[in-house]
Amino acid sequence: NIVHVVLTGGVGSRLWPLSRKTKPKQYLDLFDGQSLLEMTIARNKSIADRLLIVGNVENYALSCKVMEKFSVDHSHIIEASPRNTAAAIAFAAFQSKEDDILIVTPSDHIISGEEDYMTSLKQAIAIAKNDYLVTFGIKPSKPETGYGYIEFEGDNVLAFHEKPSLDKASEFLRQGNFYWNSGLFCFKAGIFLEELQKQEPEVYNRAKTAWESNDSGLLDYDLSMKIPSISIDYAVMERSSNIKVVASQFGWSDLGSFESVYDYLVEKGHHADANGNILIGSAIHTSFIGVENCLLVHTPDAFLVVKKENSQEVKQVYQELEAVN
Ligand code: GDD
Ligand code: MG
Repeated sequence: NIVHVVLTGGVGSRLWPLSRKTKPKQYLDLFDGQSLLEMTIARNKSIADRLLIVGNVENYALSCKVMEKFSVDHSHIIEASPRNTAAAIAFAAFQSKEDDILIVTPSDHIISGEEDYMTSLKQAIAIAKNDYLVTFGIKPSKPETGYGYIEFEGDNVLAFHEKPSLDKASEFLRQGNFYWNSGLFCFKAGIFLEELQKQEPEVYNRAKTAWESNDSGLLDYDLSMKIPSISIDYAVMERSSNIKVVASQFGWSDLGSFESVYDYLVEKGHHADANGNILIGSAIHTSFIGVENCLLVHTPDAFLVVKKENSQEVKQVYQELEAVN
């Protein structure tokens, strides 16, 4: 069976104040009245036999609401607290059969070119059947430091580098045989668990114990908190020698930070002034003087002014507010 595993547990802290703990970015109806989560489910439903939604208990109601719009065979894994993607994917794998092929996707990306996307998925599934972990490579256009980099030779992955420094990322672009990691993965449930057990036995063991304690999908809080918080990229991808890459043809945009939101909106025709400043979330007349490439984000209870290139730092504001609340 082919199982679509959608990860909806992230808080989207780099998109504060649009994205909130009570309504992270994947649930916002930002784009043509549809949320990114809805778009993700719709995109994968024809190829998958089943859908597994792995998300946080605080967003469970939001996920259920989205599922009212679909008639898709699905179930939820409800995390008591976010323990990062290595554990989230492990839960999905524990819930599946060893030979089930998992298509793991984030819930917060924009993908265009439906046919190309299907072609890439089919290629990945064929490779995953031969017991590989499959990644999807995107041709990089700038030395972005918020992504993972796949060092490739043909469809072999020589090495995986998660979130490199700017120097390293620039070097990767010069060398040429590097893709961005799209954040989508495809593998057999059993193969992923085998790798996780080998590379990060503590995550494997603790996640298994937490998983076994689940009550109708809801995981136990205390057991969950014992799972080391680490992403699949650091835990497995940087260490495994069993990885292949499918060079993706489809259009891909990770709306991970305001920098990518900015690029996406401007490409879609959103107004930018002569110095490249843009306004989001308000129609109030706004003048930007003496600054360039800035975003002013307006929500009913917060303003954010950020220079496009400093977008990764928004996460710190979120964390500071989180600490005082
Ligand atoms: N269920 C669950 N639980 N989901 C989670 C959790 C968790 O604890 N943490 C994150 N997620 C979800 C997020 O909502 C998102 O859909 C996905 O997992 C990836 O997490 P991010 O936090 O967005 O990761 P990232 O953007 O820093 O990096 C990943 O994606 C990049 C491309 O967008 C990596 O895979 C990079 O290598 C990659 O380039
Ligand atoms: Mg992301």
